[in-house]
Amino acid sequence: MSGPSQPIQIAPSIIAADFLKIGEAIASIEGAADMLHLDVMDGQFVPNITFGPIVVEAARRRTKMPLDVHLMIADPDRYLADYAKAGASTMTVHLEACTHLHRTISHIKSLGVKAGVAINPATPVAMLDEIIEDVDVVLVMSVNPGFTGQTFIARSPSKVAAVRTLIARRGARARIEVDGGIDPGTIGPMVAAGADIIVAGVAVFRQPDPKAAIQHLRDAALTAVRS
Ligand code: DX5
Ligand code: ZN
Repeated sequence: MSGPSQPIQIAPSIIAADFLKIGEAIASIEGAADMLHLDVMDGQFVPNITFGPIVVEAARRRTKMPLDVHLMIADPDRYLADYAKAGASTMTVHLEACTHLHRTISHIKSLGVKAGVAINPATPVAMLDEIIEDVDVVLVMSVNPGFTGQTFIARSPSKVAAVRTLIARRGARARIEVDGGIDPGTIGPMVAAGADIIVAGVAVFRQPDPKAAIQHLRDAALTAVRS
């Protein structure tokens, strides 16, 4: 059991919040969450459309939490400067959306922002071989991207373990973030496999007490690592 490389971090995904009350949703996790996950969707790379830099900018004005921007968009290079200017702390692009991934990752880092690469459920971990040493975060999707509230893909923990093995083999320093269908029942295997940043939408923002929900996730993760 590898477990996380450092204490786990919880990144609630704002897409699961009431979009008429985003400010209140952010306030409801202040002091309990480690960062805010913002799902940017363009209706082209994924079959859903969410928001652009304007919402990232509004979140930046509202909180001091790091903004973890997940770019589920085609040809993300077009918008990297806009999201950096809006206040993104991390920008994660999809490997499948980038023709020149090394150039895109370098571009993100040149903007002074942490660089992440996301892989969809059908994308092999081996595709990360030549970029693993250049990224700050690998985002392993445990659902097909596009919507909150989807069912966790059961074999995701083995994929996380494979990323953890690749990181160790290459002496890379990337953190492993997991995203999609994570709740107190699924967080354990993911953390035990080596995930250390946990995205959660429904499991936080659709709960009566988001702060308590975050603590419940932390407790479930700790139980898994200790067992
Ligand atoms: C899916 C997004 C995820 C998702 C998380 O495309 O990247 O961040 O919204 O929501 P839950 O945790 O509800 O699956
Ligand atoms: Zn996401």
